[in-house]
Amino acid sequence: MNPFERAERAGIELVERLGGSFDTAVVLGSGWAEVAGKLGTVKGEVAAEAVSGFHSPSVPGHGGTIRAADRGDRRVLVMAGRVHLYEGHSPADVVHGVRAAVMAGCSHVVLTNAAGSLNPSIGVGQPVLISDHINLTGLSPLSGPAPPEGYPIRFTDLTDLYSSRIREAARRADPAIAEGVYAGLVGPHFETPAEITMLARMGADLVGMSTVLEAIAARHLGAEVTGVSLATNMAAGMGGTLDHKEVLEAGQAAQGRVVAVLGTVIGSR
Ligand code: HPA
Repeated sequence: MNPFERAERAGIELVERLGGSFDTAVVLGSGWAEVAGKLGTVKGEVAAEAVSGFHSPSVPGHGGTIRAADRGDRRVLVMAGRVHLYEGHSPADVVHGVRAAVMAGCSHVVLTNAAGSLNPSIGVGQPVLISDHINLTGLSPLSGPAPPEGYPIRFTDLTDLYSSRIREAARRADPAIAEGVYAGLVGPHFETPAEITMLARMGADLVGMSTVLEAIAARHLGAEVTGVSLATNMAAGMGGTLDHKEVLEAGQAAQGRVVAVLGTVIGSR
């Protein structure tokens, strides 16, 4: 089965198992899992691996659970436990969740992640709206056979990938919120200081190991995309140390702020 048909089937299963279609998807990254129950009234839950095409993640701090949550008049699909390229998954597997979410009705996909900060004005514990990205994975979810009949062509315009409309709404709610360019690498090792110098010269403010392929796949299917990073550490060579446990702890400490940002973003759709 091709990846689009696989996602279609998963989208139908999500709607059936969680009691109706959705309008917003939130993909929770490392250290964001605790936020899952705080985005609205949880109406249902399914283990990701019980839905067609989903794999169970192998990273501590990523629980593979998909929840339905009501927040005001929004039906939110909260997806905890994304899979990453560094686990050996293909680009099609990495974007399966967001494709399934769009098939389940989501016209807005919110991608969250943990990221290293390259920008001295973005400190640890700060949520940051992603304004644009630099895809350094060398991969695209749209390479391979052309999308089947009925899908948009694969030559997707990424000019306004991270919705400027929603970023403006988020800034109106929180004028102090930071914005930055996210560089997406494969990982799983952290970067060298020389690589961080290179990324900063390229214009990156944040660095991480997810999000870029999912953003492309969601946009290709016509969804509006929002990205929110949580700066969990200063990038390599900028002081401090790099450690997965610290990334998760910084996520927990910043929970109140990130829930507030996500609430605004979800509501502004
Ligand atoms: N580099 C890459 N990915 C990350 C980092 C980092 O410093 N912090 C959290 N995810």
